Parts: sequence; C-alpha cells; structure tokens
Amino acid sequence: MMKRNASIIHIVGNRPQFIKLAPLYKELKSRNYGQCIIHSGQHYDANMSEVFFHELNIPQSDLNLKVGSGSHAEITSGVMLGLERELNKLRPDLIILYGDTDTTLAGALVASKLNIPMAHVEGGVRTHHKENPEECNRIVADHLSDILFCPDRASLESAVKEGMQEKAFLTGDIMYDTFMSMNTRNKEVSEEIILMTWHRQENTETRSRMSSIIEFIKKLDGKIICPMHPRTQKCLKNFDLWNEIESIANLQIVEPVGYMEMIELMNSARLIVTDSGGVSKESSFAGAKCIFMLDLDIWEDLVSNRWILKMNPEDDMSVASALAFAKEAVRVDGSERPKFYGDGHAAVKMVDLLEKHRFI
Ligand code: UD1
Ligand code: UDP
Repeated sequence: MMKRNASIIHIVGNRPQFIKLAPLYKELKSRNYGQCIIHSGQHYDANMSEVFFHELNIPQSDLNLKVGSGSHAEITSGVMLGLERELNKLRPDLIILYGDTDTTLAGALVASKLNIPMAHVEGGVRTHHKENPEECNRIVADHLSDILFCPDRASLESAVKEGMQEKAFLTGDIMYDTFMSMNTRNKEVSEEIILMTWHRQENTETRSRMSSIIEFIKKLDGKIICPMHPRTQKCLKNFDLWNEIESIANLQIVEPVGYMEMIELMNSARLIVTDSGGVSKESSFAGAKCIFMLDLDIWEDLVSNRWILKMNPEDDMSVASALAFAKEAVRVDGSERPKFYGDGHAAVKMVDLLEKHRFI
C-alpha cells in the first residue's frame, strides 16, 4: 500500500520513552504514515534501550545521535546539536515528543526554532516543584508544543490552568496501552514480593539521602527484588554504600530488566516501592499498592485514593506511616483496581486527534 504523505519523527532516548512509543508507532503504521525514530542515545546499555525495541517489536531507531551520559547541559546541548542537523535535512511534518527527559526538552527547543509542529505525549503532568528537573522539561515541552495528549483528568486540568485549553486533549495514558497489550498473565502468583525501583536525581545525589533509603529498606519485611538503574548502582558505589546495601538479607539486587520481566515482577508484587513516575502509575495497572519515595506531586487520583503513599525517606514520621502502609498492603484484584488512565486505546485517540486537527 502507498505511504501517506505526512512524515512524522518520534524523538526518544530513555527507557520509559521506548515503552510509550510502541503503541503510537504501531497505530500510525496501521494507518500507513511515513515515520522515523530518532534515538538521542541518552540511554544506551542494551538493558536500558535495545531490549525494549526488541520486546515491543518496534524497529531499532533509524538514527542514533549517541549523546551518551553527562550533565543536564551536556545532554541537552548534545541532543540539540544532533537534532538540529538531522531535522534540517529531514524537515518532517510533525515531531512527537514523549514524557519529561532532557531528550524531550532538547527536542522541543530544536523543533520549535525550526518551526516544525510538535505533539507532546504526556502533556500537562506536573510535580509542582520547579527544582525537579523533569518539571522544568515538561513545562517547556508543553508550552512549545502544538498539541498535548493528557493522560488523566489532573494533567488536563493543569494544562487548562496554564492557559493551554485550546491544544490540550484527554486521551488516556499510553503506558496503559503498552501494559494491556503486553500483559498476558493469567496464572496465580506463586510468591508475593516487594518490587523496588530507585533512580531519581533527588534520591541519588547525596550520600545521606541514599543512606536514609537504605535504612528504610532494612525495615521492610519479606522478599524485595530491586532491578537497579545504572545511575543508582554507580552512586551507591561512589558513596561507598554498596556493601551495606548488598548485605540486606531479604533484598535481591538485579540488573535492569526488560519490560516483559518487569510486568511479571509487577504482577507478583503486593507492594511497589519506587521513585519512578512510570512505575508508580503502573502499580495500579498491576494491582500492587505503591510507596512513592519523593515528596513531589504525583498521580493525584492515585494519591487521594491512598493507592500511592508518598514518603520522604528523611522524615521519621513519614517513614513510620510508610512502614504501616507496607505491612497492610495486599494485592488487589483486577475489578477492584482504580481506573484513571483510559481504556488502553490512547494511541488510537492520539492519531484521531492528529488527523482531525490536520497535523497529518
Ligand atoms: C533520565 C531522565 C529521568 C527519567 C529516567 C528514566 C533526565 C533529566 N532524566 O534519568 O527523567 O526518569 O531517565 O530512566 O533526562 N547510565 C548508564 N547507562 C545507560 C544510561 C544511564 O550507565 O544506558 C548511567 C550513567 O552513569 C548516567 C546515569 O546513569 O550518568 C544517569 O543517566 P541520565 O540519562 O542522565 O539520567 P537518568 O537517571 O537515567
Ligand atoms: N522498567 C523496566 N525495567 C526496569 C525498570 C523499569 O522495564 O528494570 C519500565 C517500567 O515498567 C516503566 C518504565 O520502565 O514502564 C519506567 O522507566 P523509569 O522508571 O526508568 O522512568 P520514569 O518513569 O521515572 O521516567
């Protein structure tokens, strides 16, 4: 069949973006649009990047800018230089940006200077803390984008509050699409676990913060599995905390896992302890209650329903409440799980909106 005329470029570079990309890439493909993936190279280890393209059946990116690791300015400027060069050659009709990373920020700045229309997947999400690096990236990406796909009620409301009502649409959450399409589980859980992920800047940049998280882990009962982000591994080693964390008998630290294995782990968990934006929300898809280890605003409806409990690991009262929450946490059946993130068909709504508003 003939390709439709519009050419679309997806800009990704981080683990959660590959997971968000898959359903939208497939929906556009089913409607025969010409599309291309630019990978910034911000995440590059096989278990942080390649595994997701393989498991989610999306083609390895057409172009990899190989920016690698560095400070915020190094990553942002590196991606900007590479993108400007490539977008000047490719001149697409539409750029699609995902989430809140430095790759997203660089994409927004370059595409807007080149006057290329932009769509932002996960528009309107706010932590309401400007010192949080992801908040800064989201504010810039949203305000520069031409259309925002908001995953839930709260994100749409935030977009409207910031004067973006004309371009913001509630689509449901694309991570729910991915989860639903990959979740084939119907077997009983043989052993319930606590699943832990930990990587955010606020929780890895000082030794005292990392120590307080280790003290919290020591007080948790039951088997804990932690697929550990490379940043956290490096910081624990640099702060000389690696031996201490490794000696916690009920904690099993493993390398980052692929998405299929991650779904298995989430489906086995009675509790998820995390500082990940994505994992804290996926906890509700999988039926595990969640302790979120940052005092930022996050998934408002899940917090007000006490599905997610926010914890400041450096505050004794907050840790005590989290330990009580952890003790009580039990798995929740499908029919009783909160449903704030759409129907698993956000990608269809996104492409419908792009067509209706003549972006493609
Ligand atoms: C980035 C995003 C964060 C997102 C996260 C998803 C920014 C500012 N942060 O954080 O919003 O939640 O991705 O996972 O963009 N590293 C490796 N191998 C890799 C990737 C990273 O070893 O493949 C190590 C490097 O030491 C690097 C560190 O992890 O310096 C941090 O990586 P970086 O991409 O800067 O930030 P993330 O913590 O991954
Ligand atoms: N994830 C994964 N393997 C892991 C850890 C996370 O597949 O070892 C998935 C997780 O299920 C979610 C996404 O990666 O879909 C979240 O990425 P991350 O926590 O790195 O970023 P954030 O959501 O905080 O931006």
